[in-house]
Amino acid sequence: MTDQSRLFKTSQLEAADAEPRNATDNPTMGELISARFSRRGFLQGSLAVSAIAATVSPLALLSARDARAQDGGSAFSFTEVEAGIDENHHVAEGYDADILLRWGDGLFPDAPEFDPTTQTAAAQERQFGYNNDYVGYIPLDGSSEHGLLVVNHEYTNPHLMFPGIVTLAEGAMTLNPLSKEQVDIELAAHGGTIVEIVKTDGKWAVVKDGALNRRITVNTEMALSGPAAGHARLQTTADPSGTKVFGTINNCAGGVTPWGTYIMAEENIHGYFAGELPADHPETANYDRLGIPEGSYEWANFYDRFDISKEPNEPNRFGYIVEVDVMDPNSVPKKRTALGRFKHEGAESIVNKDGRVVFYLGDDERFDYVYKFVTSGTYNPDDRAANMDLLDDGILYVARFAEDGSMEWLPLVQGQGPLTEENGFASQADVVIETRRAADLLGATKMDRPEDIQPNRVNGKVYVMLTNNTARAAEQVDAANPTARNAFGHIIEIAEADGDFAATSGNWEVLLKCGDPAIAEVGATFSTDTTVNGWFGMPDNCAVDSLGRLWVSTDGNNPSATGRTDGLWAVDTEGSARATSKLFFRVPVGAEMCGPLFTPDDETAFVAVQHPADGGDDWEGFGRVSYYEDLSTRWPDFDDAMPTRPSVVVITRQGGGKIAV
Ligand code: FEO
Ligand code: CA
Ligand code: CA
Repeated sequence: MTDQSRLFKTSQLEAADAEPRNATDNPTMGELISARFSRRGFLQGSLAVSAIAATVSPLALLSARDARAQDGGSAFSFTEVEAGIDENHHVAEGYDADILLRWGDGLFPDAPEFDPTTQTAAAQERQFGYNNDYVGYIPLDGSSEHGLLVVNHEYTNPHLMFPGIVTLAEGAMTLNPLSKEQVDIELAAHGGTIVEIVKTDGKWAVVKDGALNRRITVNTEMALSGPAAGHARLQTTADPSGTKVFGTINNCAGGVTPWGTYIMAEENIHGYFAGELPADHPETANYDRLGIPEGSYEWANFYDRFDISKEPNEPNRFGYIVEVDVMDPNSVPKKRTALGRFKHEGAESIVNKDGRVVFYLGDDERFDYVYKFVTSGTYNPDDRAANMDLLDDGILYVARFAEDGSMEWLPLVQGQGPLTEENGFASQADVVIETRRAADLLGATKMDRPEDIQPNRVNGKVYVMLTNNTARAAEQVDAANPTARNAFGHIIEIAEADGDFAATSGNWEVLLKCGDPAIAEVGATFSTDTTVNGWFGMPDNCAVDSLGRLWVSTDGNNPSATGRTDGLWAVDTEGSARATSKLFFRVPVGAEMCGPLFTPDDETAFVAVQHPADGGDDWEGFGRVSYYEDLSTRWPDFDDAMPTRPSVVVITRQGGGKIAV
């Protein structure tokens, strides 16, 4: 079986997998900007500076700086990196960016040395997985220098991982069928890693014999808990109880709970399922709403449970928030069905003033929704065990953004409003299994691909990354999604009513519309203090450091889209510096920037470089298809015998100290 769609990273797949809803011939914003970059060549220092200077009056720059001087200006202190593209990563001057963990690195004393030419599933089970995405840090004994790093491994790129499986014909790439061993390597390269790390003399290292080190893979047994657990719609041949499932897939972003458990969000689950449901099967509409089956993975060739003609309920066992107790390496991870079933991006949380815990959830698909979950119980800081099932009981809400800047959180509760048996919701299990359809009926606001959502305990706001949506037609624009054919995304800032994160209403505004501010048609709203290096498109992951400052990482910047790679940008949210952005770190060609995460002392930032070398055909430094035998970068080893390896990078200040202070 040859499947072209596997040659693309998830975000590209998402953007390409359906006809745009706008069928006009108008150029997309991406086409406009692409023409711009091809006209003037690739973005380089002085040329780029003159491009922005031509569009922003010196007077405007001056007055903005004057205003900043009055209230202290940008909250970030560092000299920004020059935007651009090459084979390596780059960090701001005065900082070190060291490779901490690479795909294939051993996590246990008995882990085999990584050899990509003789890789096995058994070896991969003992090694760091592929395509690191979410990075969390769980301190041990409250330390910012000794803790557990938890990392999601979102997906696999066989054309970058396996020798000899690409055939090139006239510059186009096709994949030869994967063997069962290669599929098994994929299963073992998915999931997550829990690994002890320690900082000694200013440098971080992995503790290979850490007692809590663990790999979670598609072979790890998990429990289904909450309202859908045991429901007939979750029962399969292998699990007639509907309460046990092997593995978790496509774990994108995630979270660490206040009680120190690790959250893995199951995002693009549709690609793993193949086959056809029997005619008139009751799950047809449910699966259509999630794009199941998409069939880009070949797992169904070897495992019947991924073939929906053979095991029609299996997809109802994926698409959840998974919680892992990292303090017990034998704990059974739990899929918390109360938080709904959709393409979960992540689950960042905050303890509300009344002790309930609020989790913010994005459903990453064009025209899908922003959610939050409020626990019924309250967090007990003195009794970890008492918190361990808080995620089984609470209320899931979906957001409706009004034109006047107000918003409502609409409860997804069976029996309330349209969520009745008549409409196919006989119990809360039905509501959570078909969360999207329930939210459709409630009239939630259709968003431009909600990615990470981050509450900020310092200023009380919540930041929503909306990565892009080129399918939004002009007549589909609304106040919260104000850009037709939104190629570069935007960021919304929510203020919950009375500073109560559990509130059912609030206010919102657009913090930032992304893209090149030098192109008027883009409509970007970066401050005029933002340099040519400082703007970005496609916000995806984000973090808030302990000072309450927002850091945004991106997915989808590349030579033809924005003339730059993805990276980590520091974005001011307060005072006259609001919407000023500065580039702190950038990734090698073809990569996406995931993470980011700061230790509690703000002296370390962890970032995840995902799918390096996945692309480069539009970069003048490479200019052809990139695959295992001919890679656009061999980052991070730069060894001809080694393929490129997705890796976690640790950033510290030379000589020590807080980052960007
Ligand atoms: Fe896996 Fe929505 O990024
Ligand atoms: Ca993401
Ligand atoms: Ca992404």
